[in-house]
Amino acid sequence: MRGVVLTGAGISAESGVPVFRGDDGLWEGHRVEDVATPGGFGRDAEKVHRFYNARRRRLLEVEPNGAHRALARLAREWPGELTLVTQNIDDLHERAGSPEVLHMHGELLKSRCCLCGAVAACTGDLSRASLCGVCDGIDCLRPHVVWFGEMPFHLGEIERAMQRADWFVSIGTSGRVYPAAGFVLAAAEAGARTIELNLDPGEMSSAFDESRLGPASELVPAWVDEILAGG
Ligand code: APR
Repeated sequence: MRGVVLTGAGISAESGVPVFRGDDGLWEGHRVEDVATPGGFGRDAEKVHRFYNARRRRLLEVEPNGAHRALARLAREWPGELTLVTQNIDDLHERAGSPEVLHMHGELLKSRCCLCGAVAACTGDLSRASLCGVCDGIDCLRPHVVWFGEMPFHLGEIERAMQRADWFVSIGTSGRVYPAAGFVLAAAEAGARTIELNLDPGEMSSAFDESRLGPASELVPAWVDEILAGG
């Protein structure tokens, strides 16, 4: 058996990491174009650094929750082939013990050099004055995250996993951002059984075979128990 799990901001919400889309359409009070696009970074790099610095500091203060831990248990105990894909830039899956995580939107605790391309661990603040540890360049580091208008990571690997999947489970995502929003269609086309676990029905809810509504910290451990029991 082969399974693919896709997670979004909702799985980290109960750890205290805010989800993206508030009712006002703003992302923690900012316009997405200002803080999550290459153009926004080009216009005001310090503002973008301040935004991600604040999120990075907050991430270092929170802990994984029961939903992250349940997926780590699934990876340990399920005999099938599991692919864990996340849209999240936090490291809570890793801290909970998931061995391999495909971060399609990058990782907040890494920086990337715009000059030499080096990706490095980053737990402190970034600014235009930060130096690249590999090429010594200045004013060239950015968060290693995927912004709107940029190509997500690992798409080939994800597509291959999706084509061979027996089941696909989507957890805590609004289904508004592509390509992840379309994964349910690819999985269904490949003949996989599809399940949505989310607090509210996502945009793609009607495309799933089954939709379970509630907090991830309750739904995910219960679903993992079912899979491990052979369900
Ligand atoms: N348990 C389960 N689901 C929850 C919980 C919870 N405790 N709290 C919130 N949710 C659900 C919401 O109902 C919503 O459908 O999580 C979803 C979060 O949606 P978004 O904030 O849109 O996050 P996501 O779908 O991951 O966003 C995708 O958009 O801004 C970009 O790159 C960013 O990766 C992100 C992408």
